[in-house]
Amino acid sequence: MNKKIAFFDSGIGGLTVLHRALQQFPEEQFIYYADTLHVPYGPKTADEVRGHIFDAVEAILRENVKAIVIACNTATSLSVKELRSRIDIPVIGMEPAVKPAVEMNRESGKRVLVFATALTLSQAKYNELVSRVDDHNTVDSIPLPELVEWCEQLDFDEDKITDYFRMKMADLDLNKYGTVVLGCTHYPYYTAMLRKVLPAHVRIIDGSTGTVNHLQQLLGLSEQHGMWTEDQITFLSSSGKSEDQDNMKHALQYLQMSNL
Ligand code: SIN
Repeated sequence: MNKKIAFFDSGIGGLTVLHRALQQFPEEQFIYYADTLHVPYGPKTADEVRGHIFDAVEAILRENVKAIVIACNTATSLSVKELRSRIDIPVIGMEPAVKPAVEMNRESGKRVLVFATALTLSQAKYNELVSRVDDHNTVDSIPLPELVEWCEQLDFDEDKITDYFRMKMADLDLNKYGTVVLGCTHYPYYTAMLRKVLPAHVRIIDGSTGTVNHLQQLLGLSEQHGMWTEDQITFLSSSGKSEDQDNMKHALQYLQMSNL
């Protein structure tokens, strides 16, 4: 029997990555596990979040899956190394797409702006990545904690969110930037709203393509690009409440409708 591929996030953010995987591998079966009892991870301490991640992964492993995608930047930066050493199936993580962003702007000299949770931005994994690739000191970052909370409430109020983006970037000269990196899997839900407040030349990128390609490589999956259906997914959450499943389904429909 073809085993399932598990996707894990604090909440519905990782669906932005699963959505891409569904489009690429419509013949695979997936589990999506949301740690709804503990979302959001971003404002918590590293030790607290590590404990939640290990509990969630234990629950996921009971489902006998063939790989786990940690579809959460915060969880990846805190735990991916340790999970890989403890688990004997592939563990794929997220990485803020800072390296491609820096490379894209090398010639123009434009800056890169990274949005991620405060916890991701404070971790050695992120800071080592930036030191490795940002040789001309062109990377800035801003945490956007409210966006995770609004996303979990399925709040896509355009006026409120565009005002929020404007407020968060009020001190920046946006013409100096060439790329915005979405370093939290919740943020792509708001790409269209962010687009409205950025100058037209600024590109918006995230790490989901890299993660899904890595998954494909590790499992030797062949790309199909057919129609996917919700029946391919088993929705699980740490609270076990049926509302969580309804929320996940609505969020996935929103991603599909918005073509994200
Ligand atoms: C959060 O739970 O705060 C968001 C986690 C993430 O995707 O980095």
